[in-house]
Amino acid sequence: MLLNSKLGYYALFLSIKFAISHMRKKWIVGNWKMHKTPAEAKAYFEVLPVFLQKNMKARVLIAVPFPILLPAFQMANHLGIEIGAQNMHEMPSGAFTGEVSCEMIQDCGGSFVLLGHSERRQLFQESDASVHRKLKRALSCGLQPIVCIGETQEERNLGLTQRVLLRQIEEGFGDISSEEASKVILAYEPVWAIGTGSSATPDMAQEVHSMCRQMLKSRWGDLTASQIPILYGGSVKPENVRDLMQEEDIDGVLVGGASLDAESFAKIIYY
Ligand code: PGA
Repeated sequence: MLLNSKLGYYALFLSIKFAISHMRKKWIVGNWKMHKTPAEAKAYFEVLPVFLQKNMKARVLIAVPFPILLPAFQMANHLGIEIGAQNMHEMPSGAFTGEVSCEMIQDCGGSFVLLGHSERRQLFQESDASVHRKLKRALSCGLQPIVCIGETQEERNLGLTQRVLLRQIEEGFGDISSEEASKVILAYEPVWAIGTGSSATPDMAQEVHSMCRQMLKSRWGDLTASQIPILYGGSVKPENVRDLMQEEDIDGVLVGGASLDAESFAKIIYY
């Protein structure tokens, strides 16, 4: 009897977990990096609707430079596209010349923020500790965080991929609760694939995504780990997006170069 009820609970738990992992939405996130003036953004959003069909099967977001957050929001909102930022400061306000706060991003219509992009880590010395402080801030002010992780070519060659990703997840997420962790999006972006034209193969990406999900599971539990979307980024283009999206643990893509052209981004949206 006891065994039966235990088995029953376990079966229920498994079916909830299965349902959640199949309910995870798909995400297409553009990253414009330091590209597009307000005029260029306007031209983009004038052309984009030509390529959009009624139903988008994924949530579509674009991370734009700070000066075009507000105009991009005003032009993209009615298309069902969310706008967000590529970085933010960890404090709400203060004497931090050149920085932008979570509240400022939200007030301009931003709904999400990229944190710890490899270009921020490599070119602006962003550490896991600072990614963690920014993550806490984004969570407390209600901005959807997309935490980027990824190994360099050298680290991969040395067989350090797992160790690097584990450190980036453990130190970047830090002491956040399971409830907070379930609000984070993780983006795996191997540094060697960013802007190089050579993407990870779907198999390679799936292998790492499943490894990341195991890491999330062992720290925040099965249910939370199954709720966290894991996106792949690095030379995603219309030609390879579909195969990547077929993989079980690839819940979406983070797209740099191929998001800059409206027609190519639309092809990715309707992969
Ligand atoms: P890419 O950039 O698509 O141009 O490789 C991805 C990223 O840096 O987010």
